Amino acid sequence: MSVSEQPAVAAPATGQPPAHPFPPGFVWGAATAAYQVEGAVSEDGRGPSIWDTFSRLPGRVRNGDTGDVAVDHYHRYPEDVRLMAELGLSAYRFSVAWPRIQPLGQGPTNQAGLDHYRRLVDTLLEAGIKPVLTLYHWDLPQALQDAGGWPSRDTALRFADYAAIVYAALGDRVRSWTTINEPSCAGLLGYSSGRHAPGVQDPPAALRAVHHLLLGHGLAIAAMRAAGTGGAGGADGPARTGADRNQFAISLDPAPIAPATTSPADLEAARRIDGLRNRIYLDPLLLGRYPADMLADTAELTDWSFVADGDLATINAPIDVLGINYYQPFRVRKLPGPLTNAGVSKRSLGLTDLSRPSTGSDREGSRDSSWPDQLPSEYPGCDDIEIMAPAAPVTAGGWGIDPVGLVELLTRIHRDYPAIPLMVTENGAAFDDRSGPDGRIADPDRIEYLAGHLRASHEAIALGVDLRGYFVWSLMDNFEWAEGYARRFGIVHVDFRTGRRSLKDSALWYRDVIARNGLD
Ligand code: FCB
Repeated sequence: MSVSEQPAVAAPATGQPPAHPFPPGFVWGAATAAYQVEGAVSEDGRGPSIWDTFSRLPGRVRNGDTGDVAVDHYHRYPEDVRLMAELGLSAYRFSVAWPRIQPLGQGPTNQAGLDHYRRLVDTLLEAGIKPVLTLYHWDLPQALQDAGGWPSRDTALRFADYAAIVYAALGDRVRSWTTINEPSCAGLLGYSSGRHAPGVQDPPAALRAVHHLLLGHGLAIAAMRAAGTGGAGGADGPARTGADRNQFAISLDPAPIAPATTSPADLEAARRIDGLRNRIYLDPLLLGRYPADMLADTAELTDWSFVADGDLATINAPIDVLGINYYQPFRVRKLPGPLTNAGVSKRSLGLTDLSRPSTGSDREGSRDSSWPDQLPSEYPGCDDIEIMAPAAPVTAGGWGIDPVGLVELLTRIHRDYPAIPLMVTENGAAFDDRSGPDGRIADPDRIEYLAGHLRASHEAIALGVDLRGYFVWSLMDNFEWAEGYARRFGIVHVDFRTGRRSLKDSALWYRDVIARNGLD
């Protein structure tokens, strides 16, 4: 159903200037990631990724869901770009699947993979939508995991090679390059709690993985900058300067961390989690050093001798924009001792709520009793710290709804780090959307969530933060990692059986926000 066929239910365009106007040129986007939307996992020479493997392990993904088909964006991207254009998006943030470009993670380039992304990019450009390309959104080629994965330094070197290949092919037409999405999830959920692929539970290895993800970022930036801004033209290509220069970024998912009480033990717990959630990435990227307290906190797990001379300078290479993915703040408290079962309940993490049936999925049944509830902490050495369940209001996934946390986060980063332009590269919420008898999908909770966070973004700008844009997570419902298809984050509804797309009310509302460059 196109925009024109749907009732205009969103924010009435009053003709008045919006109460919360955004700066001219503010980027209005929506985001997806390759494994979550593409499907076509065996087509055109794509190799297997760690998510193909992980999603087949019993009990790791809710309902045994996989990204095999996902929402078939690989084939349906022309239709999806048309929807983006109808909404008036200025930018689309997507990721390239490394296993499509190098099926084994190294060695020969698979031209068919590059051709796919060139077609996607050209379709976006023809529609007047700026492509914002992420090189790594968690789908590591399985062959590289078999060779050691991110805990192995070699993976960082391979990532830089891969970045150079994609950059040579698309650097002449893509201006915004993001190396890695959320090294925290790739590193700590992948190798400490094991909640995400590859499902390893080895806290010291997780810290090595974090370092090598950051190193891979720095090496990739160096490789792309060395190639020149002309893409295929390389250093000899047409020189571009100033506003026409390509921009480089990384996207993190930092969060405000508050102690449950003012007791010294809880304050200490908050400091430790802040170290491992936020400063472990922000400090090396923007200050060129790891936080001393975080190194001391983790000294029993590792001596950090895998940080080689020069690594921190590589990681600290200048970037043009820092991407911020924000969902919720966390409250933490010190426990008397490590949780038994080495576990923190996922329910208490606010990551899921197994007491609710997973009604969001049309693909499978409801509750999956084999799906794991207890996992070790994602924060290495922090099994004695509870990440507390958020207070109401919460999303369908049990994540806290707290727009003030976004103001706090953006102003903190602006204050604590050298001036770096910021971009909200993900923000959004899962709710159990239902179509009405007329086919309309009313999602007032999502509109309220997005409006609250956009007003928070507006406030941060008023407080002096150099915020350049905002991307809704997600353009459309998709495969939500360990939650499978049970969590719908899209502003576009997807019928997972047929692939049919329909605009939710939130999409129509966002269209009006974009048209007005602001909201009331
Ligand atoms: C972020 C991920 C994104 C999506 C949202 C809900 O951590 O980057 O892929 O799953 O969470």
